[in-house]
This record gives sequence, C-alpha cells and structure tokens, in this order.
Amino acid sequence: MTSPYQAAHDRSLNDPEGFWGDAAKDIVWTKPWDKVLDDSNAPLYRWFTGGELNTCYNAVDRHVEGGRAEQAAIIYDSPITGSKRTITYADLQDQVSRFAGVLKAQGVEKGDRVIIYMPMIPESVVAMLACARLGAVHSVVFGGFAAHELATRVNDAQPKVIVAASCGIEPGRVVAYKPMVDEAVKQAAHKPGKVVIFQREQCKADMQDGRDVDWDEAMKTAEPADCVPVAATDPLYILYTSGTTGQPKGVVRDTGGHAVALKWTMNALYDVQPGDVYWAASDVGWVVGHSYIVYGPLLHGCTTIVFEGKPVGTPDAGTFWRVIEEHNVKVLFTAPTAFRAIRRDDPNGEFLKKYSTKSLTALYLAGERSDPETLKWAENHLQVPVIDHWWQTETGWAICGNPKGLELFPVKHGSPTKPMPGWNVQVLGEDHKPVPPTQIGALVCKLPLPPGTLPTLWNAEQRFRDAYLADYPGYYKTGDAGFIDDDGYVYVMTRTDDVINVAGHRLSTGAMEEVLAMHPDVAECAVIGVADELKGQAPLGFVCLKSGVDRPDEEIVKELVKLVRDEIGPVAAFKQAVVVKRLPKTRSGKILRGTMQKMADNTEVKVPPTIDDPDILPEIEEALEGIGLGKKRSG
Ligand code: COA
Ligand code: AMP
Repeated sequence: MTSPYQAAHDRSLNDPEGFWGDAAKDIVWTKPWDKVLDDSNAPLYRWFTGGELNTCYNAVDRHVEGGRAEQAAIIYDSPITGSKRTITYADLQDQVSRFAGVLKAQGVEKGDRVIIYMPMIPESVVAMLACARLGAVHSVVFGGFAAHELATRVNDAQPKVIVAASCGIEPGRVVAYKPMVDEAVKQAAHKPGKVVIFQREQCKADMQDGRDVDWDEAMKTAEPADCVPVAATDPLYILYTSGTTGQPKGVVRDTGGHAVALKWTMNALYDVQPGDVYWAASDVGWVVGHSYIVYGPLLHGCTTIVFEGKPVGTPDAGTFWRVIEEHNVKVLFTAPTAFRAIRRDDPNGEFLKKYSTKSLTALYLAGERSDPETLKWAENHLQVPVIDHWWQTETGWAICGNPKGLELFPVKHGSPTKPMPGWNVQVLGEDHKPVPPTQIGALVCKLPLPPGTLPTLWNAEQRFRDAYLADYPGYYKTGDAGFIDDDGYVYVMTRTDDVINVAGHRLSTGAMEEVLAMHPDVAECAVIGVADELKGQAPLGFVCLKSGVDRPDEEIVKELVKLVRDEIGPVAAFKQAVVVKRLPKTRSGKILRGTMQKMADNTEVKVPPTIDDPDILPEIEEALEGIGLGKKRSG
C-alpha cells in the first residue's frame, strides 16, 4: 500500500492542479480561480489565476465570524520588558481594521508599498495584516539592520508610508529606531509621504511636524477599513534577503498561492489544528516570522506567540520552557542556534526540571544546518520529535521536512528528511546531470515550484531569471549543495554562493566586502564565514591596506568593525578582521575564499591547481593563527 506521504507527494507532482485545487478549498475566495496552475508564461508560473481573495479576511475576520472571536489570536510575551498581553481574534479584527483605516487616511491603497520597521510587538503583526487588508504590499525590515540597509529597501520598494516603532529592546540596551528611520529617509532618493510611529515607553521618538503620525493618536479617530479583495497573483509582501551583492533581493510573495500553501502546511507538516498554540521563536523581520509567526498560524485559526526576548539571558536558559508551560504551546519552531545557546548555558537541562513542557508535541528547527549534537540534546531533554526542515526566504515554506501531520518518518540526524509534497528535489552534478544517491551536488527543484514560492523578484524579473532559473534550465537553483541518500532523505550541506548563515540569519559576504572597501585605507578585501560554535558561522574579514598606510592594524580593524555595524547593522555580527599583505587568488584573479575558509576552520585544504601564488597561503595561515583560528583553533 502506498504510504500517506507517498500518495500525497506523488499526486502533488502528477496532478498539481488537483492536489492544490483541493487544498485551496480551505481558503475563502471572493472569486474562484480560472486556472490552478497557469503555465502560459513558463518558466514563470502563476497559481490560481483569475481568483480573488483577501489574506487578512482569511487570517482574522473569518475566524471571528466562525466562532473564534474570544479565542486568543496573539499572546505577546516579552521577558525583556516584563510584559504580557493577550489579543483575541475580535480584538485583532478591531485593531487591524482601525489601523488599516489609519493607513488609508494616509493615502495607502491597493498595490501601494508600506515598509514596516518594528520589533517583536503585536503592533508589528497588526501593521502587516492592515496592509494585507487594504491590498497594500508590506515590506518588513528586520530591526537589526541599520539606516543604510533601510534606505536601500526604501529606494527599491518605494513605499508610500513607513510604519516604525520608536525603539527595539536588546539585552542591556534600547535601540532607538526612529533616528535610523530619519537617517534612512534622508539617505534615500525616494521619500515616503508619511511615517507612522508607535511610541514605546522605553524611548519616545521626536516627531517631525507634517510627516510623522502618532500611532495611538491616529487609532483613536480611525475609521475601520474593510477587506479589499485582490487577485491571487497580486503581491502580498516583499521581503528582502541577502544575495551575493550589497543590493538585496526583493522576494515577492503572491497572495493566493501563499494562503493556500501556508494553511495546508499547518496540518500536513506541523500537525496542529485550529485552536492550538503555535510558537515560532523568530522575528517578524525574517521569512520564518512572516510565515509562522503571522500568516500560517492565523490562517489556520491558531494562537500565535509573539515573543520579545532571547533564548538565554532574558532572564535565563529556562525562558523557552516557561513560555511553553504558561501558554500551553503545542509546537515550537526556532533556529538551531537558539538551542545551542540554551545547551551552552544549561548543558544538563536543569532549567527544564523547573517547568512542565507536556503540552509540546514537536520541536521544528530551520534556518541553518542542524548539527546532530544539538538535535540529540533537544531530543533527549524534550522527549518529543525534533524535526529539522529546510527552506528559504524564496520558498516561503519548507522544501524538505518530516510531514508529521501526514506521516512521521524516523529522524536521521543531519537530514531535514524528505521533499515535501509539491517539491521535486534533485541533485545535479557539474555536467547538470543527476548524480547517484549519496553523491554531493547542486540541490535544485524541478519547475514549477509549488504555490507560495516566489513568482519573481520585485522590479527585477531578469535578476530572478538569472539568479534562479538560468543555470539549470527547467529547475530552480536553491544555492545549496547536498545529497540524497538511498532512502530518499535529503542532506543540505553548504551554500554554493557567498551567502553565509550567522545565528540563523542569512547574510551576504559580498555586502560586507562592499562596506570594507569604503574604508579609505583598504585596498582590497575578502569576507568569509568561519565556523562558530554558537552561531554556526561568523564573518571574518581579510583586508590589504593601501601602500603608505602606516597605522596600527588594531586601530584599522576597530574602525572596520564599527563601519560594518553602522552601515549594515549589528545583525551582521561582524567582529573580526585581519590585515594581510596579499590575498590568495587564481591566475584569473578570483579570490580563493573557499580555500581561506577551510584554512580558518582547520579542515582539509586542497590547494587549487589554478592558484597564482601558493606562497601567500602561509601568510594567511599566520594571520589566522594570530586570532586563534586555523591550526590554533581549539576543539
Ligand atoms: N534590533 C536591533 N539589534 C538586534 C536585533 C534587533 N531586532 N536583533 C539582534 N540584534 C543585535 C544583537 O543585540 C547583537 O548585538 P551585539 O553585537 O551588540 O551583541 C547583534 O545584533 C547580533 O545578533 P545575534 O547574531 O542574534 O546575536 P545575539 O548574541 O544577540 O543572540 C542568539 C544570539 C543565538 C541567542 C540569537 O541569535 C537567537 O535567539 N537566535 C535564534 C532565533 C532566530 O533569530 N531565528 C532566526 C531565523 S529562524
Ligand atoms: P533564509 O532565506 O534566511 O531562510 O536562509 C536560507 C538558507 O538557510 C538556505 O538556503 C540554507 O543554506 C540555510 N538553511 C535553512 N534551513 C536549513 C536546514 N534545515 N538545513 C540546512 N540549511 C538550512
């Protein structure tokens, strides 16, 4: 007999229209679609063409009308400020419709962009849903990015309005957001008409007459706005993610396919039902936050947790267990780095003994490779399935996972299990042909991708084609390398480009190099990701100075660290750089970043035959040893 997973997977590939057409019945449409899968412009595919719906209606109003008005939609738990709040679906409908009214009064209409720059507070979710209610396109910018990154996104998305909070709160410091918004608007060529500010008591922002609008004041007199139906193919949001250059990619999420796919994953992958409490300990600024703090759980009628804190230090490594106990969390989703942090502080799980985690049925990990040791630690201490799943900002939901709601497979440590229904994952070699099982190659997905995945990049269709479709015609290039074993389990090993993953955050080394090159003393530079026990990877810069520069290296390194923090933001976690005389290159002038990375990690280095001058490598080794890396790396 075919297993439930196999039946679903086979049908999703052989009869995608039937499979996703059925899933789409779980969403309320104001106009049914003409075509489930529109392949008239292949390799650019569209889902549910002709259909119309409103995502906010499906995530909020529908549940109020359907008997969930008094159920908690959001539980805000903020150990960092010592506050908690529960927002029912009825409250959420009230706040979202009024905030949509605020945006409407500022001229925001269907198709307009709104940038949201906010911390982990319920108002961030309200702002996102209010945009969706109006058919406006939100673009959330993570609070750890600095003004320049915000300005880049303002220029690209051209928002009519920016919505921001006065501040975010990090352990030991209040991060004033408003001055960064002001600076970004100053730097950007595009000027948003209005800036709506949610004033937090920890730091009140100065307001600019005529441009800035106070959230609370505006809400008092706001006229609630209704849901505006949009085409299934209209964008719901743009989320910028790191590419190989300083210009981030504006990943577009469509409305119809997204709602269908996310609602479907809640049961099939996460095995939760309407009314359950679901917690993604991430940030609304990342794709995990979009999909599984906001849209997935709310589309499914769950209660979502908005957690403002860290896994350790707010106040201790027991914080996650307290939240699970207090709010009856059924599923927790976070990045492996959070568990590495907890394990580091509480190796024997002492804090777990203080709380009951009996409501928890599974832990899901994603955002970076799950190291088997951390995974085993979590399994031993939580006594629930620990499910690694692999996905990307571009895909919006998991490419591979262990679909607990359909069928739970035995976990193999180090593998995110199997391709989810909708995904035809293959491993191709350098000759673009499939490689045999267990052999490593480029991880690609046969087109069309399932609903909810990116249809294009914002205002950059050619870049979309070049970045994802051009190298392997007929396939989507994930940018990851890995292999599939004899049982069909997929293993994701490494990126094939200059993207690194620091604490589950995707960062571009190219963007950091662009910043280092701005320093007046730097002639040439390279940034690589080196293995880091807590964060998975950490960036490390190599810089060659211009001739005649005669200042202590330490002074320059300090300036470089500050420059990256100021330009990209603290999230870059750029703390280390070394000054070297020369960089190793191929004869055609390509910097050998991969070789330097292996040297820094003290893994086996094969000197590439194309190297121009092998004598540079000992100089690099010496520089690495000077900062405790390379052969001096402990452990
Ligand atoms: N606003 C402003 N600054 C922020 C920020 C925000 N929203 N988020 C992070 N930062 C800052 C941090 O304070 C830190 O600053 P510092 O250099 O002054 O210490 C810097 O950015 C780097 O942040 P991070 O790499 O996250 O390190 P951390 O030491 O603050 O926390 C972890 C490490 C592992 C505890 C944390 O990354 C974590 O909980 N990660 C798991 C959850 C997650 O983020 N998942 C994302 C994808 S699922
Ligand atoms: P992001 O777009 O920020 O979600 O980052 C996506 C990238 O993170 C992927 O391309 C992978 O390199 C990495 N990644 C995410 N989840 C996993 C996972 N479960 N295992 C290995 N790598 C992962």
